[in-house]
Amino acid sequence: MLGLICDSLTPFFYGVREARLNMTSALHIAVLAAGEGTRLGGAQPKVLTPLWGRPSVAWPLEAAASLEPSTQVVVVGRHRAAVEAALAERNDSVVFADQAEPLGTGHALLCAKQALAGATGRLLVLYGDCPLVHPALLESLLEAHDRSPAALTLLTMELDDPTGYGRVVRDDAGHVVAIMEQADATVDEQSICEVNTGIWVLDLPQGLDRLESLGRDNAQGEVYLTDLVGLATQAGEPVGALCWHDPEDVLGFNDHTELALVRGILRERILAHHLEAGVEIVDPGSTFLDVTVEIEAGAQLLPCTMIEGHVSIAKGCVVGPFAHLRDGTVLEAGAEIGNFTEIKKTRVGAGSKAKHLTYLGNAEIGAKVNVGCGTITANYDGKHKHTTKIADGAFIGSGTVLVAPSEVGEGSRTGAGAIVTAGSKLSAGETWIGVPARPLQAKRVPRPTE
Ligand code: UD1
Ligand code: CA
Repeated sequence: MLGLICDSLTPFFYGVREARLNMTSALHIAVLAAGEGTRLGGAQPKVLTPLWGRPSVAWPLEAAASLEPSTQVVVVGRHRAAVEAALAERNDSVVFADQAEPLGTGHALLCAKQALAGATGRLLVLYGDCPLVHPALLESLLEAHDRSPAALTLLTMELDDPTGYGRVVRDDAGHVVAIMEQADATVDEQSICEVNTGIWVLDLPQGLDRLESLGRDNAQGEVYLTDLVGLATQAGEPVGALCWHDPEDVLGFNDHTELALVRGILRERILAHHLEAGVEIVDPGSTFLDVTVEIEAGAQLLPCTMIEGHVSIAKGCVVGPFAHLRDGTVLEAGAEIGNFTEIKKTRVGAGSKAKHLTYLGNAEIGAKVNVGCGTITANYDGKHKHTTKIADGAFIGSGTVLVAPSEVGEGSRTGAGAIVTAGSKLSAGETWIGVPARPLQAKRVPRPTE
């Protein structure tokens, strides 16, 4: 029986654990993602809540995938198609199991049984609304399980305000004997601050067999996975528990306040990753980056900047203040994107600049281009998006509208306020001005009356 273990992991311990994990039995993963998440409101299921470029359910999957499990099962409900689409990049490694009705977490895991038929070893259970878990934490839990005689080990945490979580009930000797859900807990039990994180390890195949005997006799009429603990206790079997020292690694979200907290923690982790990798982020407090953003060391992000989706930023780039880069933006070395500029699906070549009040969408911009203040690529005709091409060394005058599709040749210029209409092609070195924009004559021809 493993009692309360708190944070005391030394490097030495990590070394031992690695050796043991290599020798231990196979690992399988089940992520429960079939709940309705009604407490959050909104049309989409809670597990698809976008968290910095990745839906909530993909975060625990990503953490678990690094442990190289033999099987990854995601239990899905009536939103299966949407969850499958959101996890499309992982569909080769993930198996989906249906839970026709959301009858509770115990029932959800039972629905994974078929997908795990014949599997032996350990099953790591994760919840799709607990996105903060990371590989080191999961490895520690597996190690605790491997060292324990228990067939079931859960991860707990201590919270100042445990409201909403299942409370961990221990006997006088400190052994875990039950988990009481908020709705079922007595007043005394509600004062317990140690709670269930929703992360478990079960031995297979026997760990799943007991799920069949879970009832629904509780305040919510649900099949609680947490009742496995009480059943094991009644059968005289030990239950393992690892108390994780940092709730910021295991919090879930059931309402908007908790969601904002979880978002904030993930945001800081993403920023820390880039800071450690050598990116200068002048004000992390006002910088928002998706996990899918790639930034080379030596780039600089100025305050009030938001970068979403698959974006890559090369060394020497300066982005911001007040810049918004969206999916498909590529900034090559030394590009500068400034105040109130929005860019999406656009490649900006080395050393090019768009520093003020500009929208660039579906554009291919060469090197050393100057995009003047107030430039707009009008990429959408109401039905389709079209491409704007601007070659190396072009100079786009302030207030130019480039209606796509259009092309600006190498070294070409547009005059301030020019409206370059759809289908226009500015040859290399030409200057176009006016509304609609036309080539500027090399020499002005005097009128006959002059
Ligand atoms: C659950 C735990 C609680 C724990 C908390 C940690 C149970 C009974 N309670 O409560 O002890 O403190 O998580 O965050 O397990 N799901 C399904 N099918 C269902 C119901 C839920 O797949 O029928 C999935 C949900 O999509 C979600 C996860 O299971 O990802 C947890 O469900 P939720 O309803 O949020 O459980 P909690 O009330 O938070
Ligand atoms: Ca929850």
